[in-house]
Amino acid sequence: MQAVIVYDSLTGNTRQAANYLADELYRAGIGSNLFKVSELNEKAVTEADLVVIGSWTDGLLVVGQKPGRHKRFKQLLPQLGGKRCAVYCTFAVNPGKTLEKLTKTVEAHGGQVIGGMTIRRDDLEGGAAELANRIVTAV
Ligand SMILES: Cc1cc2nc3c(=O)[nH]c(=O)nc-3n(C[C@H](O)[C@H](O)[C@H](O)COP(=O)(O)O)c2cc1C
Repeated sequence: MQAVIVYDSLTGNTRQAANYLADELYRAGIGSNLFKVSELNEKAVTEADLVVIGSWTDGLLVVGQKPGRHKRFKQLLPQLGGKRCAVYCTFAVNPGKTLEKLTKTVEAHGGQVIGGMTIRRDDLEGGAAELANRIVTAV
């Protein structure tokens, strides 16, 4: 099984979570290709069995949260053609409805969201391990 992990990251946390997730998925027998959303290889998406989409939380800490650079993210994300997808967002204090909003975006691009997780930035490794567990259970 092959996965693509596509993420946007401003200060590196969401990228780091993607790296941890790739390590965990590898242990479970799932290989991953990682891409920034701005450098995504659409062929890799077409060939993947699973697409994981990661974003960071942008807002006023406890209100108005949404995926970071959401408009740009929506423009850059390709059509996902019924692919199985998982979503995650990293956050500092409170992710609000960021994950739900990211899920809607992925579904609007044709992705079938099978699960997701909010990952607190002070435990990226633990969060990524839990997300990998959820993904492995769901696929
Ligand atoms: C402009 C800006 C707004 C943010 N707003 C929130 C917020 O509303 N709630 C929250 O929990 N974290 C918020 N954060 C924290 C980030 O979501 C968190 O640090 C995240 O892990 C950053 O991911 P990155 O390092 O991949 O860019 C904000 C960060 C920035 C830079």
